[in-house]
Amino acid sequence: MIGARCLAVLGVVVLVQGCADSAVESAGDPLSTGCVVPRLAATPSPPVRPNAPGNPPAPVLSEAELVGLADCVRPVLASSMHASEAPAARVYSSRPRYSLRPFGSEHGSYLEIFANEKAEAFGRFEDAGVLPEGSIVAKHHFSVSGAGVVSRGPLLTMQKMQRGFNPTTTDWRFTMIMPDGRIAAETAGRNSAGVDFCVECHKAAWRQDFMMFVPPEFRRKP
Ligand code: HEC
Repeated sequence: MIGARCLAVLGVVVLVQGCADSAVESAGDPLSTGCVVPRLAATPSPPVRPNAPGNPPAPVLSEAELVGLADCVRPVLASSMHASEAPAARVYSSRPRYSLRPFGSEHGSYLEIFANEKAEAFGRFEDAGVLPEGSIVAKHHFSVSGAGVVSRGPLLTMQKMQRGFNPTTTDWRFTMIMPDGRIAAETAGRNSAGVDFCVECHKAAWRQDFMMFVPPEFRRKP
């Protein structure tokens, strides 16, 4: 069956199709998005992007392929979070987006970054200063196999809590949310040791309130 999402994709994008019967695919693979990269589906290519242990390696996609893929993947990732345990995750996708299109992370997956209205200063990037309480920045992820199959990844969020919440993180709460919406780890909450590695890396950016920002070539002013 072809859903509304697929029809929208068919209308504008020929590079990426999201029109396989995703219900059938999902039955076999709970992380399936139903989106594929046709070039790779036709001629699988070995992943070449350097990768961190435990993450699926990613093939390099063209800009046009990534732009097309975004139309298919965004609604799938958003809907997997609609019933998330983390309230901030449920609505992240309706917030302004600060990246032009999905871009590759150093860990082999692709991502996009969103921030709520309180976090508006995020759009000034290195000039953002210290974000106010209530700011939420979120990045969703997806991975692409060498055969062009696109899978859902985690949603990572940073939420600015009340003053004194956690001096080590200048009161940011780091949360890792699994593709099914469950919270895997959270600062000062469930399995908080599981987000220590987030803080370890982000503290390199302590001068800019722990924010790493979107790489300059992918920045978008919403
Ligand atoms: C090895 C370093 C590293 C680790 C570990 C890491 N991040 Fe990040 N994070 C980055 C970089 C770099 C960016 C900028 C976007 C990009 O290029 O991926 C970023 C961006 C973000 C953003 C968007 C706001 C910003 O700072 O620009 C959020 C939210 C985020 N990370 C959350 C997390 C969470 C939650 C974890 C742990 C589950 C985590 N990160 C682990 C490096 C890291």
